[in-house]
Amino acid sequence: MKDKLKQYIEEVKKLQIKSLNDLNEFKNKFLSKNGILNSVLNEFKLLSKDEKKEIGKYLNEFKDLVEKIWNENKDLFKIKDIKEEIDDLTRPPKQLELGAIHPLSIIKNKIIEIFLRMGYVVVDGPEIEDDWHVFSALNFPPDHPARDMQDTFFIHKDPDILLRTHTSSVQIRIMEKQKPPIRAIMPGRVYRNETISARSHCFFHQVEGLYVDEKVSFADLKQNLFFFVQEMFGKDVKVRFRPSFFPFTEPSAEMDISCLICHGSGCSMCKNTGWVEILGCGMVHPNVLENCNINSNIYKGFAFGMGIERITNLKFKVKDIRLFSENDLRFLNQFVSVVL
Ligand code: DAH
Repeated sequence: MKDKLKQYIEEVKKLQIKSLNDLNEFKNKFLSKNGILNSVLNEFKLLSKDEKKEIGKYLNEFKDLVEKIWNENKDLFKIKDIKEEIDDLTRPPKQLELGAIHPLSIIKNKIIEIFLRMGYVVVDGPEIEDDWHVFSALNFPPDHPARDMQDTFFIHKDPDILLRTHTSSVQIRIMEKQKPPIRAIMPGRVYRNETISARSHCFFHQVEGLYVDEKVSFADLKQNLFFFVQEMFGKDVKVRFRPSFFPFTEPSAEMDISCLICHGSGCSMCKNTGWVEILGCGMVHPNVLENCNINSNIYKGFAFGMGIERITNLKFKVKDIRLFSENDLRFLNQFVSVVL
């Protein structure tokens, strides 16, 4: 056995491992279950005490050598193997998939960018709200239909916890915390218990606007929104204001823009009127200011709220709002290179 071990030691010392193949051969021959190292270890166990004393050092030398070779080479060839692959410069490159910004985010970012230029700040608010911020503080009478289960997703009754139905709730959160002057826009997701169709969804997105200061007038409101529309849709777009009603503004209005599709001659987008409604607005109702401890004799304000889906539909000519939440890549990929 001593001679056999000496022979193995010589063999292993001479070994040159140059490739992954060599390494595998080495592993099979010396280190596998039925390999030489295991077989000499088993043989060793059967020797007498004296024989073990004499042969032990050869066995140890052999074992150490085999382990050293394995440890030195085992990772080296893995790396070399990969490197060989990389070094093949003729290989076609891996295609990097380019992501796209979601169309609603493109429009939201554009809206934010325009209002930032007018000195507005961006404020976030919670989607899970209470009755006070969504309805009561905004001057909704107790029996207003929007408070009905039909429209609002209630999470808890008494106290009423609900999913906000509009971003107007964030107006209250700002005014409770901050004294005028206030100039903010509040983008976010809102929820309504509506049947899902091409035109309505149970969740959608709005941008709210609020400007409160000492001498704010309806003329300021018109000018700010007119600037916004021109930046968003171009200088040729006309606007008009129609009287409307919201509990939290007085007077209230809805703003239309001239139809971008038919330019006034009549089409399905504008229902043959030549005009498309894009937002609601008005002067903040004194009750709303007082609910937030802001003196309505000193301060005036205007507010507005627009649907991001609406603006996106107009800008990108999307006819079905369900597309925004279906995550169909055939739809989303069309926005890869859109820059506004
Ligand atoms: N909150 C209204 C809605 O969801 C939109 C709105 C209208 C917001 C008039 C306003 C406003 O701030 O002044 O339909």
